[in-house]
Amino acid sequence: MELTSIKSALDNETLTGTTVAVAGWVRTFRNDRFIALNDGSTIRNLQCVIDQEKVDATTRARFTTSAAVKCTGELVASQGSGQRVELKVTSVEVLGDSDAEKYPIQPKKHSLEFLREQAHLRFRTNTYSAVFRMRHQVSFGIHEYFDLNGYNYFHAPIITASDAEGAGEMFRVTTLDANSPPRLEANDSVDFALDFFGRESRLTVSGQLQAELAALALGKVYTFGPTFRAENSNTTRHLAEFWMIEPEAAFMDLKGDMDLAEGLCKHLIARVLKNSMDDLQFLDARLAEEEAQKPKEQRSEMGLIDRLKFVLDNPFERITYDDAINILLRSKPYQKKQFQFPVEWGIDLQSEHERYLVEKHFKKPVIVTGYPAKIKAFYMRTNAPGDFGYSEKGKTVAAMDVLFPGIGEIIGGSQREERLDVLEARMKDMNVPAEELWWYLDTRKFGTVPHAGFGLGLERFVLFVTGMGNIRDVIPFPRTPKSAEF
Ligand code: 4AD
Ligand code: MG
Repeated sequence: MELTSIKSALDNETLTGTTVAVAGWVRTFRNDRFIALNDGSTIRNLQCVIDQEKVDATTRARFTTSAAVKCTGELVASQGSGQRVELKVTSVEVLGDSDAEKYPIQPKKHSLEFLREQAHLRFRTNTYSAVFRMRHQVSFGIHEYFDLNGYNYFHAPIITASDAEGAGEMFRVTTLDANSPPRLEANDSVDFALDFFGRESRLTVSGQLQAELAALALGKVYTFGPTFRAENSNTTRHLAEFWMIEPEAAFMDLKGDMDLAEGLCKHLIARVLKNSMDDLQFLDARLAEEEAQKPKEQRSEMGLIDRLKFVLDNPFERITYDDAINILLRSKPYQKKQFQFPVEWGIDLQSEHERYLVEKHFKKPVIVTGYPAKIKAFYMRTNAPGDFGYSEKGKTVAAMDVLFPGIGEIIGGSQREERLDVLEARMKDMNVPAEELWWYLDTRKFGTVPHAGFGLGLERFVLFVTGMGNIRDVIPFPRTPKSAEF
């Protein structure tokens, strides 16, 4: 008999009264009679009622936590409260035993730290199954949004020779012998001409430069792939391997870029509110429980679902970097010297500053534009008097960062420098090797046009919609400094 998913067994009313077969993993077995079965199709369990006359004690003893079982029987209106239907089991088969003594995840609340060490099994918990179903909804929604808006899914390479962000935080890719690499006679440095690609190569930190090439032909593209950064930051917001979405569009300016970013965020929030309500309700309750442990002044004012609805229903605040600095200088935490990092024109906004703007001052997502050129990548368009985000205080670029409550920066983007002479001067200024990026510069020689794009960190967005607090809990197998288990 073909399997029915537990989700449809519970939701599809036409199945009530019929015989179905379901298979999943035992969550609990109560009173020697009730199996709470979960197959991952929904956070809800199906109650499978065992007739002790039909199933012998030896078999019943095998219904241990996380054993895989298949139950066949009639879906009937439930006697108990808490579920609409239950399964009156007529036959049951243990597909895979689970030794109750050794199974590490007991049916009780475990800490997320503990579960991270059991990453191979943590998907069987309510929290992680909800998170990863929602990660799917967000990922699929990203493709949906860009497809609806005429963007082509474009695959940027993972191995690259160029440091798009200029931050020098790249992982090396090599087949040379780490213990005795070939060396140049002249100065004893490693001879990468003998390496696999005949040059130094690394894992990409961004697919943007390649996406720009494609946008200047296909018009609208987006990448969606793994991204690698060897930054040694052990925070709840950083991974060494994460997934980034990078749209890029020709003939788009900074305003269009902001609209696209806000539109994407709202599309994704609307999608999870529509498709993930079960999981959201569970995560909302989970978060409320966690918040209740915190001192009152640190609790957030809204629950998870209310927060999502609020972000969906309200326009993002759009301010310039100058505005942001002025607000911070007038803020209580600044005047009471509560910020750890200094505030003055020219600084890169730190997470504490971003969170003040979003959580305390505006109480909604904020888009900051017109950052100082010095702290941003070489490809961003230089502002001139009259441009949005132009500042008398120093050179600024047409950058935009989208800041989210509880997260800080979730999107970073810009209008790109399309003027060859300005771009070349800026590259020289920032010591970006123009010879290596000859192909990038070519697009500014042949039919250059204004264009813009941004990068959204998938995991940061999933953090936001799930209400989870640590980025390690929203990617299946986190890669962070000193950690690459599983
Ligand atoms: O601001 P970033 O560095 O921008 C770029 O890479 C541009 N090339 C994007 C573009 O314009 N096409 O990174 C973009 C986003 C950040 O806002 C953040 O959400 C995420 O990527 N991100 C990380 N997420 C997890 N772990 C890390 N180490 C991250 N670094 C950046
Ligand atoms: Mg950034």
